[in-house]
Amino acid sequence: MTKKILVLPGDGIGPEIIAEAEKVLRVLIDKYGLGAELDHGLVGGAAYDDSGTPLPEHTLDQARAADAVLLGAVGGPKWDDLDTAVRPEKGLLGLRAGLDLFANLRPAILYPQLADASSLKPEIVSGLDIMIVRELTGGIYFGEPRGFREADGHRTGFNTLVYSEPEIERIGQVAFDIARKRDSRVCSVDKANVLESTALWREVITRMGADYADVELSHMYVDNAAMQLVRAPKQFDVMVTTNMFGDILSDCAAMLTGSIGMLPSASLDANGKGMYEPIHGSAPDIAGKGLANPLATILSVAMMLRYTLDEAALAERIEVAVEAVLDQHLRTPDIMAEGAIEVGTAAMGDAVVAAL
Ligand code: IPM
Ligand code: MG
Repeated sequence: MTKKILVLPGDGIGPEIIAEAEKVLRVLIDKYGLGAELDHGLVGGAAYDDSGTPLPEHTLDQARAADAVLLGAVGGPKWDDLDTAVRPEKGLLGLRAGLDLFANLRPAILYPQLADASSLKPEIVSGLDIMIVRELTGGIYFGEPRGFREADGHRTGFNTLVYSEPEIERIGQVAFDIARKRDSRVCSVDKANVLESTALWREVITRMGADYADVELSHMYVDNAAMQLVRAPKQFDVMVTTNMFGDILSDCAAMLTGSIGMLPSASLDANGKGMYEPIHGSAPDIAGKGLANPLATILSVAMMLRYTLDEAALAERIEVAVEAVLDQHLRTPDIMAEGAIEVGTAAMGDAVVAAL
């Protein structure tokens, strides 16, 4: 059966990195029998410029009709002064909410070839393999009430951090199930000493832990978790946490691996439908220059093959090809090292295609 993939390049470096990921998809379709067809759409600032909204109804319809979505990045200074309601980021958040993509998987893996690119000592990060499971459709990102109000001569901005038991249970289940396929350890990250919503989080995860007796469960406050990530990151296997804590900790974990330009992500609903994107942003400072690292996006295609398209062997092919280009000492500027060969976005994509 032919699967439908919706491609949303978005803004900034989005179109450049997506172009390379599409080359890879083409090879899989033309040479390796992947039954998939690509559709294209607008999201973020690109959509706003086109129709005044970062998530047109048509794009959401396309996304609903697709089996998987491949997204580049959204946002940029051009749209910074817009009202929050129509900022490019709202397009991304609208897709996550509209498709009920509550489970965000952000693997932080250190490629041995890049050990020197990490800001941490090689012995601290070598062999690093963490899976951050971030709740993606709840918490303070979506809690109501929210907004601004004016009283006593000044404005107040406010948000609500809220989690219900079912929301915590479904993300907890994803984390425990993934841990079973890895090193069977889950660290749940919260701020249960201060915030009721995450006190409930800890209670629910603890309760669930009893049903996963084969998985070693620990709990950590988020401030300590941030510290432990840079002190001794290899202690972690699977980390499960709230929407905002996961946003912050995943950037931190990404940097351990040398460059945020290497890390893919999957955002899944309860039925395996997913949106796949690099965890880095639109990098407006290098947009259009052909300098961006396309590997995070290409590795996001690998995650798509594994988690939505049920093509694990093809996913592995991509991962092996990425390792091969790193072995050839090809490096985009973000991962450049002494003695390596610096290449641009398209050359890196071409090298992956050649290695495939
Ligand atoms: C991410 C990004 C987004 C988020 C932004 C662009 C809305 O930082 O995917 O981590 O905060 O979730
Ligand atoms: Mg982020």
